[in-house]
Amino acid sequence: MTTIARDATREAALRAQLAIGGWTFSPFCCDEVDSTNRVALALADEGAPEGTVVLAEHQTAGRGRFDRSWTSPPGGLYLSLLLRPRPGEAPEARGLYGLTLSLALHETVEGLAGAGRVGLKWPNDLAADGRKLAGLLSTASTDGRGDLHVVVGVGLNLNQAPGLLPPEAVTLAELVGHPVDIDAVALTFLQTAAERVAQLRTEGAPAILDRWLQRSGWRGRRVTLAPDARTPTRTVTGVVQGLGPGGELALAVDGGPVVLFPAGDATIAKEGGA
Ligand code: BTN
Repeated sequence: MTTIARDATREAALRAQLAIGGWTFSPFCCDEVDSTNRVALALADEGAPEGTVVLAEHQTAGRGRFDRSWTSPPGGLYLSLLLRPRPGEAPEARGLYGLTLSLALHETVEGLAGAGRVGLKWPNDLAADGRKLAGLLSTASTDGRGDLHVVVGVGLNLNQAPGLLPPEAVTLAELVGHPVDIDAVALTFLQTAAERVAQLRTEGAPAILDRWLQRSGWRGRRVTLAPDARTPTRTVTGVVQGLGPGGELALAVDGGPVVLFPAGDATIAKEGGA
């Protein structure tokens, strides 16, 4: 861990602006890293506190959901935040950290792109014009003392040259028509994340689930859910009824009952489509 070159100037600048009631953020900034999630998990294992946040200019082995790779050239936001469930915190809360931070990211991005230009995509993505703007990856683990921690990794496309990203990606710079300040986005996101996690802890999961449903507009929409390791082996289509207590997608499957899906690749079905 100590062999990674850190950017002390960037860390000090971020730390100075991250004094948020009840939260202590400890930024760990590096230029190149394999994966900020891997670094954050290693720091967690060494006992790093909640609020440790790893940022990299670019990643050489960024990871996404379903063990996909996450293309990470310079110009994007690559950030991993360490959260440690509090004693007495409802057990379902820790399963909702990813969804909670996706709300914080959506609020951050809407502040720059304008309301209604960027959508939330279950469970943890942001999309615009049918293209992927951001993804979040939540990984839970226990350290040597048996304490649980969760690392939520955020990949947000900001200023990357379009040719360096997969064709299905979109950048925030494309949406707003000019480059954006990566650290300003990171700061706003972390401030908003602190508010949302506090809301999850004080008001409970329903407040966050309701907020997600309101902001996403997914209730009542027809979606197609492609399988992954934890879902049925076939693609299913149905109408979204809401979210389960752990953030599962509650889908009234065509010709079948309402089923809670814990994971999967969900896409809004085209209007008038099957
Ligand atoms: C997804 O598949 O949609 C989730 C992508 C998450 C990518 C981010 S980039 C920062 C952090 N480090 C990683 O290796 N992955 C996450």
